[in-house]
Amino acid sequence: MNVQRIIIDCDPGIDDAVSLLLALASPEVEVLGVTTVCGNIPVDATTRNALTICHLAGRDDIPVYSGAVRPILREPIMAEFSGGSGLGNAVLEAPVRKAEVLHAVDYLVKTLVEAGERGEKITLCAHGPLTNLALMIRHSPAVAKGIERIVLMGGAFRAGGNRTRTAEFNMLADPHAAAIVVSAGIPITMLPLDATYQAMATPERVEKIRAVPGKVAQTVADILTFWDRKDLKRYGSLGGPLHDPLVPAYVIRPDLFTIESTFVEVEWRSELCFGQTVADWYGRTDAAHNVDVVLGVNAEGFFDLLTERLASYGN
Ligand code: BDR
Ligand code: CA
Repeated sequence: MNVQRIIIDCDPGIDDAVSLLLALASPEVEVLGVTTVCGNIPVDATTRNALTICHLAGRDDIPVYSGAVRPILREPIMAEFSGGSGLGNAVLEAPVRKAEVLHAVDYLVKTLVEAGERGEKITLCAHGPLTNLALMIRHSPAVAKGIERIVLMGGAFRAGGNRTRTAEFNMLADPHAAAIVVSAGIPITMLPLDATYQAMATPERVEKIRAVPGKVAQTVADILTFWDRKDLKRYGSLGGPLHDPLVPAYVIRPDLFTIESTFVEVEWRSELCFGQTVADWYGRTDAAHNVDVVLGVNAEGFFDLLTERLASYGN
């Protein structure tokens, strides 16, 4: 098996937590480290939650690096639905360790520059605001040589926004950072709301997870029950879209997804469209394609994968 080495940049966050648990249970990827960013909640809390989730997974060996405390230019915004700790109503064992001393951006720069010098490449999985990644690119553009691809959750095209009429949360939370990342010339796969709205954690799918014995599966069933947004008009079914776990799922099983390559820009000048992702679907510019946008998800295949991997934790 060709094991892909990955780093996960995140802001846990309920769906971020499920993403970490999926990646940590998947032999197709080796998680080198987790970096955290201010997003759903302040970075101290996202860092603590990342440590908590690694502990739940029995993976206190995974280094966690705390990152940017605020977006590059705009004021921080916090997600509406994550609950007090950011992990819903789950009662979880406290982490037994602290984050590494090295800052997340310094870790990313060091790891990726050194990998590039050795002729190796690492995949970056990102499902929070892109502040750490933008700072890393501005700090040392040479990181590009050590990056296989950035696979990120963010953006909204035909789906429209989830935090404003035009913008998805991760883009809105730091549009300047997102603009830096998509224009950096690094291969990018983007999972926008158009894709993630196809991966609904319906009551039936959550019940299948609840039927799996073991602490990890039970915790995921609990936090996904909390996640249930009952917004039929917006989502077309009961449950909430499981945005972030699609990122490791794409790395592990790209056959479950369909993509369209296009030119994408992130808007940061306009008030109405602040954080909007804009694609050139019909070739109205001469710009080179910079993003593979995921537009189709085999949702049953994804939930089967997730359920199987949660079962692999055992009791
Ligand atoms: C994104 O916003 C966050 O709240 C979720 O974790 C996800 O990364 C969806 O818009
Ligand atoms: Ca997230």
